[in-house]
Amino acid sequence: MLVSGAGTNLAALLAAHADAGYGARVVGVVSDKPAAGGLDVARAAGVPTAVVAPRDFEDRAHWDRGLADAVGVFRPDLVVSAGFMRILGATFLGRFPGRVLNTHPALLPSFPGAHGVRDALEHGVKITGCTLHVVDAGVDTGPIVAQAAVAVEPDDDEASLHERIRVVERALLVDWVGRIARGGLTLDGRRVVVG
Ligand code: GAR
Repeated sequence: MLVSGAGTNLAALLAAHADAGYGARVVGVVSDKPAAGGLDVARAAGVPTAVVAPRDFEDRAHWDRGLADAVGVFRPDLVVSAGFMRILGATFLGRFPGRVLNTHPALLPSFPGAHGVRDALEHGVKITGCTLHVVDAGVDTGPIVAQAAVAVEPDDDEASLHERIRVVERALLVDWVGRIARGGLTLDGRRVVVG
């Protein structure tokens, strides 16, 4: 799992392990930020962690390869990016083809990028939500696995809206990572087939 932030999605996946029939297990957590709260969440659960910080590499390409190596150590069947605030490069995606998922706090293809919640709010949409998608070379452009909608309330600010999205997002992520772990994921063009 790749994290840069608080790791609430990670915590939800770890909680799902309690059910023996769930089918997926977090084998390792990698962050670009040494201070990411998600690393503490992983450590508390006894999950191995690694930090691959861009400043320790001479350029983006070397960092991308370092990240792929660090994740590869865990031999994951699936790589889940949840709040990982960096773009994955060609080397990384080539190492785990069609097996990298990202969760985004907006209904893609609307409001991609680092500020999906803020951008949706500023645009004045009445419905937003979250998207689980397969990562491709673009920014939040990959084939969509699942989405869930969240209504925008008149008095919402970015924090309150993101908090309600997070609740729905966690459930969506846990549901679909479990389905994929149990049934597999195949791509038919942009169509994602699970199970
Ligand atoms: C999640 O809402 C995720 O969708 C978002 O960061 C949050 C991470 O929360 N990701 C992005 O905005 C990526 N563009 P978490 O660290 O508590 O799981």
